[in-house]
Amino acid sequence: MPLVTTKKILLDAQKGKYAIGAFNVENMEMIQAVVAAAEELQSPVILQTTPTTIKYGSLEYYYANARTAAEKASVPIAIHLDHGNSFELAMQAFRAGYTSIMIDGSYEVFDKNIAVTKAVAEACHSSGIPVEAELGKVGGKEDDLDGGGARYTDPQEAKLFVEKTGVDFLAVAIGTAHGIYKGVPKLDLERLSEIQKVVTIPLVLHGTSGVPDDTVRECIHRGICKVNYATDLRIAFSKGVSEVLREVPDTIDPKKYSSKGREEVKKYVMNKIEVCGSAGKA
Ligand code: 13P
Repeated sequence: MPLVTTKKILLDAQKGKYAIGAFNVENMEMIQAVVAAAEELQSPVILQTTPTTIKYGSLEYYYANARTAAEKASVPIAIHLDHGNSFELAMQAFRAGYTSIMIDGSYEVFDKNIAVTKAVAEACHSSGIPVEAELGKVGGKEDDLDGGGARYTDPQEAKLFVEKTGVDFLAVAIGTAHGIYKGVPKLDLERLSEIQKVVTIPLVLHGTSGVPDDTVRECIHRGICKVNYATDLRIAFSKGVSEVLREVPDTIDPKKYSSKGREEVKKYVMNKIEVCGSAGKA
């Protein structure tokens, strides 16, 4: 089917009390792996790319791959800009055909975050494209961009932010971080419940690689409708590739090791779709 936006699949998830996995992809094989996992489990799924990934492969290449994968699939697939770091990049992704846009103004002061988010939301809504924003600051390193320290989301600020911007989904900072955790992350679940009480739009969890599955389920129970995984997909892909190269070091056919990477990513994504509770919801 054609690419879908994230609007309906996330509102359906909110109603049904499950979440949709949003998986960061960096090459054709990772896109194929995520879509194959979604197809096998009959789940909607979100493919997403960061600014650094876009710099590597371009919006047009990722969009074309995602569109082709979606058209061959029988389940809803969306292509989302993850952590769009400027109005300009958000508009480029919008024009390239991305069906969901994140504008991340979380590094700005409150009023500036509102201004840039509102501007992106207005532009995208004119064509029915939904927008995600972030308030507070998820810590750690996202792709090659160092987000620095974390700043937790304030529930009352979140309420005001959503009212003022008209944004569709809100990423919250409750103790997760991008990248690899040193220990088991401890999340502020109470804060998440407080946010859910005053914010009615679907909430988004970033930095989920390495968060225990039970904690993710608890977050979904408390209002998370979109769950982002990036780092673990990189690990899975690289593990598959290096296994082949270790066993047969003189392998020269990229298809041989890339297909093993693809297999590992598919296995990982299938497991996380189950954790999100979206299997069978396509
Ligand atoms: P990690 O996979 O690094 O935990 O983060 C994913 C994410 O939030 C992408 O935006």
